[in-house]
Amino acid sequence: MDTIRIVELPVPAPGTSIPAGTRPPAVYQAWHDIFAESMVEILGHDDFADPPAALAAGYADQKHTRKTLLLAVTTTARDRAVAAGVEAAAAVTDPADAITDPADAITDPATVLGYAAVSMPLTDNTHLAHVDLAVRPAARRRGIGGALWREVERRARAAGRSAVTTWSSHASEAPEGAGALVPPTGAGRIATDDPATRFALAHGFSLEQGERQSTLRLPVDPSLLAGWRAEAEAAAGGDYRVVQWQDRTPERWLDALAELQRRMSVDVPVAGLDFQEEVWDAARVRDMDEDIARAGQRYVLTAVEHVPTGSLVAFTHLVMPQAQPEVVFQYNTLVHGDHRGRRLGLLVKAANLQLLAAAQPAARRVHTWNAGENAHMLAINVRMGFVLASIEGAWQRRLDVAGATSAPAEITSHVGTDGATADGPLAAAPTGTAA
Ligand SMILES: CC(C)(COP(=O)(O)OP(=O)(O)OC[C@H]1O[C@@H](n2cnc3c(N)ncnc32)[C@H](O)[C@@H]1OP(=O)(O)O)[C@@H](O)C(=O)NCCC(=O)NCCS
Repeated sequence: MDTIRIVELPVPAPGTSIPAGTRPPAVYQAWHDIFAESMVEILGHDDFADPPAALAAGYADQKHTRKTLLLAVTTTARDRAVAAGVEAAAAVTDPADAITDPADAITDPATVLGYAAVSMPLTDNTHLAHVDLAVRPAARRRGIGGALWREVERRARAAGRSAVTTWSSHASEAPEGAGALVPPTGAGRIATDDPATRFALAHGFSLEQGERQSTLRLPVDPSLLAGWRAEAEAAAGGDYRVVQWQDRTPERWLDALAELQRRMSVDVPVAGLDFQEEVWDAARVRDMDEDIARAGQRYVLTAVEHVPTGSLVAFTHLVMPQAQPEVVFQYNTLVHGDHRGRRLGLLVKAANLQLLAAAQPAARRVHTWNAGENAHMLAINVRMGFVLASIEGAWQRRLDVAGATSAPAEITSHVGTDGATADGPLAAAPTGTAA
């Protein structure tokens, strides 16, 4: 019988990237494959699975978040690692060992059966850890998920983190009734008879929030976009001016966008998730530009300038992974609280879709995530044609309260988020980046 060991993948050098057209190291292929297999099983598609090169670039980027990738590896791969002299054997009960040269030690992605990607914020929210955990469908119910979770929990405690968050994906909202778990917000129903739900509950997580994942099919009729934009510009009046850019924030807007990103972190509805205000400055905005580029992605961003004050008061951000030219992710959307009710949410979203159509005509769908209780953002999205596609559960495991001791538990992941507009928001990918 195979022995399965948990190993830590060393972090690549800063700025590491895998050139397009070259075969990615097996470990990053495995990370991608496992997530993609899990998503296909639940949702029927793998749009949310970052390509291996993007995962490698993201892992190398450790500036604002300490990231750790734990892999559940069969003895086959492990034996290769030992034979190659890069690592000594260790049991699953002592999983902290690292493979020093993953590209050589693991050559077959199929020998990696599961992963846990742990993110610990360094710039703010230093009390939190986030985990994205998945096991190959063919390797489930053998304790691999639980073994990964125990190592995540051990590390989160050792780092002094007081809570761990994670997301689970579900094809649809559960019917009302005894088989549905409802978060304290009252918005969203997650099926109890579901592997992720059972796993999360078995490991001490509580369901804090339900998120609606919606998809907009492209192209949107250009006359509709122009009509929404004209309507919104008329409602907003002459004090507001659209400002747009792609891929790199203009110097003059770095501070203004940093301020909007900071506000985003406190304005979105986070329910009982223990998210605290994020710390943003011009350098972090530039870091985000560079992280997106290194991950093989481009972006379009539309903001609104309040002309009398020269400040930015609204923005929305769409990110396009170049390896998946049909796929677009909605990142943050925010209208400053002092400027809501003037159709600025509709304005930025319509104008950004116009820019997207010009920048990436091959785009066929935009995916967005909204807290179920974020009525204002959802209303705009529904009006524009976003259709509910799946449900996510936002889970939190407290490490600092009695009763939440060590049992096993788990997690999932994701990407962008649609934030507040005329009132509301979304649960942000806690890393503050795309995820
Ligand atoms: C959730 C997941 C990680 C579990 O992985 P796993 O290797 O099967 O986990 P384990 O074998 O350690 O199972 C731990 C417990 O989870 C629960 N569980 C997992 N799958 C289950 C299922 N199909 N039915 C009932 N309970 C299940 C059980 O409590 C199980 O304990 P048991 O086998 O003693 O009954 C896996 O199903 C997965 O990758 N799903 C897709 C990604 C995901 O949802 N991640 C977690 C988000 S919270």
